Amino acid sequence: MTTLDPALLERIEALRAKYAASGQELIDFLDGLLEADYITYWDYIRLDSLLSLQQPRTPHHDEPIFIMYHQITELYFKLVLHELDAAVAAPMPGTADWTPAHTEALTEHVRRCTRYFGALEQSFAVMTDGMNREQFLRFRMALIPASGFQSGQYRMIEMAMARLNELVHLDVRAAYAGETDPLVLLDRIYWRGGATIAATGEKTLTLKQFEAKYAKEFSERAVGVHGRTISDRARVLEQRGELTDALREGLRELDHQVNVRWPMQHLKTAGRYLAKQPSDTRATGGTNWPKYLPPKFQLRIAFPFLWSDAERDSWGS
Ligand code: HEM
Repeated sequence: MTTLDPALLERIEALRAKYAASGQELIDFLDGLLEADYITYWDYIRLDSLLSLQQPRTPHHDEPIFIMYHQITELYFKLVLHELDAAVAAPMPGTADWTPAHTEALTEHVRRCTRYFGALEQSFAVMTDGMNREQFLRFRMALIPASGFQSGQYRMIEMAMARLNELVHLDVRAAYAGETDPLVLLDRIYWRGGATIAATGEKTLTLKQFEAKYAKEFSERAVGVHGRTISDRARVLEQRGELTDALREGLRELDHQVNVRWPMQHLKTAGRYLAKQPSDTRATGGTNWPKYLPPKFQLRIAFPFLWSDAERDSWGS
C-alpha cells in the first residue's frame, strides 16, 4: 500500500473539514472530481459566447469595429464598476469599522479605475482614426436612435464616484447644493436635459428609451450609494484630516481622467465624424452635441473640493 504524502493528507483533512462544516461528505465531491472534465481556456472565459456577440446591421466592413470597440469599452466600464462597487460597500470613514487598511484599499480601487479609463483614452484611436468616415456616416444611419448616450454603466460609474448634487444640471446645480433626497437629485441629473429637442424641450426617443430601461436600476443605485460615494468618503477623510497625499493625488487623477481626458478624446472623435456635414450637429442620439459634450460646458467634477477655484474654472479648457 502506498503511503500518502503528508502534504496531501493535510489537504484532504482540510477539505473534509470544509465540506463537513456544511454537512457534506468529502467523498461525494471526490467522486464528482473523478467524473468532471478538465476546464479549457475557451470554456472558462466563455469565448464562443463572447465571439458570437458581434451582429452588424449593415454589410459595411467597418461596422464590426464600431460594435467591438463599444463592447470593449463596456467591459472596461464593468471593470471600473467592479472596483467602485467594492469601494462603496466598504465601511465609511469616521465609523468604528474604518481602519487605515481601508484607506489603502480605497487608494488601490481608485488607481485601478484611473488605469482602466486611461487604457480607454489611449485606445480611442481605434475609433478616432480607425474607421473610414464615409462608411461610418452610412452605417450609423441604421443605428438611429441608439447612442453611447444610452450607456447605463457610464451613468452608474459617475453615480458611484460623485455625489448626485454635483451631477445636477449646471443651470440649477447651485439651487440643489443642499438637497438631500437622492431621487429629487436624480430627476435633475445633467443628462436628462442633454437629449431634448431644442425647440420644444421634449425628450428625444433616445432619452425616453434610456429612461424606460434603466429608471428603476438608477433609482435603486441613487438610494444605495447615497452618502457612500467615493466623493462622500473623500470629504469625510478630508474633514478629519485623514486624506493621505496618495489618495488625494489618486482621486484628482481619476476625476481628470474620467471627466476630462476620456470625454475630450470622445469629443474629438465626434468632431471628426460628425462635423462639416450638411446637418452639422445631427447625432444618432439627437443631442446638440457641440454644446452638450464638451467637459467645460457640463462641468462635471466628481471631487470639486480637491481642486482650486482656478482649476475648476479652467476645467476641460
Ligand atoms: C465614431 C465614434 C463615436 C461618435 C461619433 C460618438 C458620438 C457621440 C455623440 C454625438 C454623443 C452625444 C449624444 C448623441 O446625441 O448621440 C455621444 C454620447 C456618448 N457616447 Fe459616443 N460616440 C462615439 C463613440 C463612442 C464610444 C466608443 C463610446 C463608448 C461606450 C461612447 C460613449 C458615449 C457616451 C457615454 C455618451 C454620453 C456622454 C455624456 O452624456 O456626456 N461613444 N457620442
